[in-house]
Amino acid sequence: MDDCILELKNIKKSFGGVKALKGVSLELRKGEIHCLAGENGCGKSTLIKVASGVYTPDEGEICINGKKHEKVTPHQAIAEGIQVIYQDFAIFPNLTVMENLALTTELAGNKKIASKKWFKQIALESIQEIGFDIDLNELVENLSVADKQLIAISRAFYHNAKLIIMDEPTTALTDKEVKSLFRVIKNLQSQGMSILFVSHKLDEVFEISERYTILRNGENVSTGDVKTLDEKQFSFYMTGREFANIERAPEPDKNEVVMEVQNLTLANGYKDISFQLYKGEILGMTGLLGSGRTELMESIFGYRRADSGKIIIDGTPVEIKSVNDAMDHGIGYVPEDRLIEGLFLDQSIEENISVAKWDNLTNRFMLDKKAMGELAQGGVDQFHIVTDDVKKTVQKLSGGNQQKVVLARWLARDLKVLILNGPTVGVDIGAKYDIHGIIRALAKKGMAVIVISDDLPEILENCNRVLIMNAGMIKGELVPSETDQTELTSLIMGG
Ligand SMILES: Nc1ncnc2c1ncn2[C@@H]1O[C@H](COP(=O)(O)OP(=O)(O)OP(=O)(O)O)[C@@H](O)[C@H]1O
Ligand SMILES: [Mg+2]
Repeated sequence: MDDCILELKNIKKSFGGVKALKGVSLELRKGEIHCLAGENGCGKSTLIKVASGVYTPDEGEICINGKKHEKVTPHQAIAEGIQVIYQDFAIFPNLTVMENLALTTELAGNKKIASKKWFKQIALESIQEIGFDIDLNELVENLSVADKQLIAISRAFYHNAKLIIMDEPTTALTDKEVKSLFRVIKNLQSQGMSILFVSHKLDEVFEISERYTILRNGENVSTGDVKTLDEKQFSFYMTGREFANIERAPEPDKNEVVMEVQNLTLANGYKDISFQLYKGEILGMTGLLGSGRTELMESIFGYRRADSGKIIIDGTPVEIKSVNDAMDHGIGYVPEDRLIEGLFLDQSIEENISVAKWDNLTNRFMLDKKAMGELAQGGVDQFHIVTDDVKKTVQKLSGGNQQKVVLARWLARDLKVLILNGPTVGVDIGAKYDIHGIIRALAKKGMAVIVISDDLPEILENCNRVLIMNAGMIKGELVPSETDQTELTSLIMGG
């Protein structure tokens, strides 16, 4: 079509035995904001990599600005104005903002002498185009995720992009940062840019995009105007499942305290924290970034020692000096950033899942390979982890599936207390539903689960109780069945 900037027709792509794309088509019109949605592992990132020349499709046709290609090289894609912003942004953390903005231009121009003045000019022009205000001399590693993203966008824009593709740009952003990213996207659109936006978050799709394409399992499911779609349809298209209303978790027995924290304090972290956690309870914990909630949990898990205060497990005060101490007391922790802290990316799914249970699987210094395999397969089945082989490295899994591996690992251990920091950040609705179901099942079995989350519906629907932290202190306690999002939000904001 004439008004299309990019058309992908019947694209097929396999990796070994995995058919990632089974004949997918996508039509992107000039100047539109188009959302590409679908569950983890459905092929979104693969499709983007085909469009940008990173992967060569096995079959199919790529039309850019009306020109047909059987495949494109990364160089051609860039020359045609296609810029992709991947989740790692491909920027250099140890260089300044200015150097990052100017560097690729510099490389492209093949200039031997880098003039500082010229660097500065390019950098300034790039950020001004998108109305981004930042200190050019700051090292990129000191910036927030949102600012790094804006640098990547500035750079893309400066390189005469006509189409900017963003792969799950909002995963690591706060609500406020998402709002400001959306303003930038609208601004780009008003300057004639087309945007392909990958997301599986319903509210985002409805807020920002005009048209959508939904994939499932490497195939097209539906495409059209967002206006014609409602939330129920959207969830169904993505998952092929209808979601039953979830049952609230049963109330825990308040006579059985598994863990008690008394006056726990850490300078520059949190202050005078006291609370009890009951057997079989799902306790929510929320608060703004910087509220001290992560530091608190890291102390309970032995990452950073509290300055004073007590942690009592099953009625006995314990000293938690290290992660090993915490694990010996039956405490498990799934960190916020699954990729950095949680996983051994170059090891197999099997090894990653069984690592928490190694002491049990080690029989006289010999690793019980069979038990390891069974354990891993159990996790893969229980969580619907999309893979054909538990021996594959975790690196090869899609993001949401990596998250499930982290969870599966902890569940392989018998725990008293499981702390989940942002358990469903970046996972799709199907996986989220499954994870919530599993959290409830664990609580029912008697495990106490602490869920740290910014996702207020998640907290309200799943937890028995919620603690609100602000500036290092517990500022309130609510019972979800007796409150609503408005009251919770106002407590979070310090009201
Ligand atoms: N380089 C690779 N080698 C082997 N398999 C791969 C490779 N890249 C992707 N896959 C597989 O192809 C399928 C599609 O993956 P892809 O990363 O495109 O999914 P996605 O829709 O982007 O998921 P997510 O929402 O989790 O990011 C998955 O089953 C994945 O495991
Ligand atoms: Mg992806």
